[in-house]
Formats: sequence, C-alpha cells, structure tokens
Amino acid sequence: MNLILLGPPGAGKGTQAKRLEEQFGIAQISTGDMLRAEVKSGSAIGLEAKAIMERGDLVPDGVITAMLAARVSRPDCAKGFILDGFPRTAPQAQALDAMLTEKGLKLDHVIELKVDDAALVDRIAGRFTCASCGAGYHDSFKPPAKAGVCDSCGGTEFIRRADDKAETVAARLEAYHRQTAPLLPYYAAQGKLSGVDGMASMDEVSRQIGAILSGKA
Ligand code: AP5
Repeated sequence: MNLILLGPPGAGKGTQAKRLEEQFGIAQISTGDMLRAEVKSGSAIGLEAKAIMERGDLVPDGVITAMLAARVSRPDCAKGFILDGFPRTAPQAQALDAMLTEKGLKLDHVIELKVDDAALVDRIAGRFTCASCGAGYHDSFKPPAKAGVCDSCGGTEFIRRADDKAETVAARLEAYHRQTAPLLPYYAAQGKLSGVDGMASMDEVSRQIGAILSGKA
C-alpha cells in the first residue's frame, strides 16, 4: 500500500504516519526528517537545505526528488510506504507519478488532514522530541507520562526544531497554501483524494484514516 499524507505544517502528518508504519509495517518516508538528518551530518545537501528550512521556504525540487527516488528503492519500502511531506509542489507530484510508473507501482490513497491555520501555531510551538530515540511529544496534547522522562526509552534530553518559531511557521504556512495546496485538485482529478478532520483527537484522526483505507469511509 502506497499513501500520501497531505496537510500544512503541524497538521499531524508525522504523528499519523508513524502510527500507520507500526500498524501496516510499511515505511514512513518524511522528507523533512531526511533533510534534518542531512543538516545534522553536515553533508552538501544539508548545507544547502539548512538556511532554506530555517526561513520556512521549500528546498529545490531537484534535490528532493533525487533524495526520494533513492529512498523508495530501499528494501523497507517493498511492502509500501507513507509519504509524509512529499510531494509539496506540482513538479514533485509529476516526478512521483513518473517514478511510480517506472517501478510498476501505484498510489492507493492521498489523504488530506484538514486543519485550521490558527490551531497550527499552538501545535507546532508545543512540539518536542526525545533526543535519544526521536519519540514525539507536545507540551499540552501529548506530554510524557513522567515529566522530563521519555516514555519510550527513558531518555531525559529533549529537542525542539529550529524552524518551529512563530515567524518561521507563518512562512511555512504561506508556502503550503501557495505551492502545496494546489496538489489537492491534482489528486482529486485522479480519484485518489480523501479528507479527514485533522482538528479531531489523534485517535479519531487515526480512526478516520483507517475507515478510508478499509473502504468504509
Ligand atoms: P517537514 O518536516 O515535512 O515539516 P512540516 O510539513 O512543516 O510538518 P511538521 O513536521 O511540522 O508537522 P506534521 O504535519 O508532521 O505534524 P506533527 O505530526 O509533527 O518539513 C520541514 C521543512 O523541510 C520544510 O519547511 C521545507 O523547508 C523542507 N522540506 C521538507 N519536505 C520538502 C519537500 N518535499 N520539498 C521541499 N522542501 C521540503 O504534529 C504537530 C504537533 O501536533 C505534535 O506535537 C503532535 O503531537 C501534535 N498533534 C498531532 N496531531 C494532533 C491532533 N490530532 N490533536 C492534537 N495534537 C496533535
């Protein structure tokens, strides 16, 4: 099964992609996580991407599509994948279609997480992850069971993303509406698009996605 989760920053794409990865044993592919790993390693891609990401702009299509093509060829994608943060522009969507055709694969569903822009700043500003295992938390919506201790690995150090400042979030939202939202009619025309209420609780969003995947929506 090959899926795309589409939605603005903070819509819950990463949260739901991780749940789907566990549930179906298919790979979560987050181009944002891949770019952050490149930045951390100090690679040429990372050096190019760092300032762009900190401004809230999009990294050039050629860099992203090359990175994605290499990623979907890895063995953990054999059963399928969930694209989280890709495609984000019309050229990326067209490159994905060409890549899938070449590999004899198809997209099963494109799921839009519908949210109010106003709620996203709170979601993003409250977000943090465990520095050891990467488990995700939120100050209000998903704090660790014991304050300051990771539920998954017991780690006690946490990190917040450099692009999660209010002014950068505004630029990221603008990029979403200008460059990524136009993909919604593109996938609707292919008969692949479904929407879920991204303002609902995490469990309710998962339930709505499950209904789409099982054909009961
Ligand atoms: P990326 O890492 O993809 O970030 P994003 O799209 O801005 O999305 P986020 O990770 O911020 O949010 P999310 O939707 O995953 O929400 P989450 O589940 O964390 O991209 C970062 C940057 O990299 C881009 O700005 C760009 O520069 C570059 N980039 C990446 N891909 C690119 C591409 N294809 N082309 C060009 N450039 C690219 O949830 C957010 C918070 O809310 C969490 O704390 C979570 O716990 C909480 N939450 C989630 N769901 C709910 C819920 N239902 N109720 C309450 N709280 C919730």
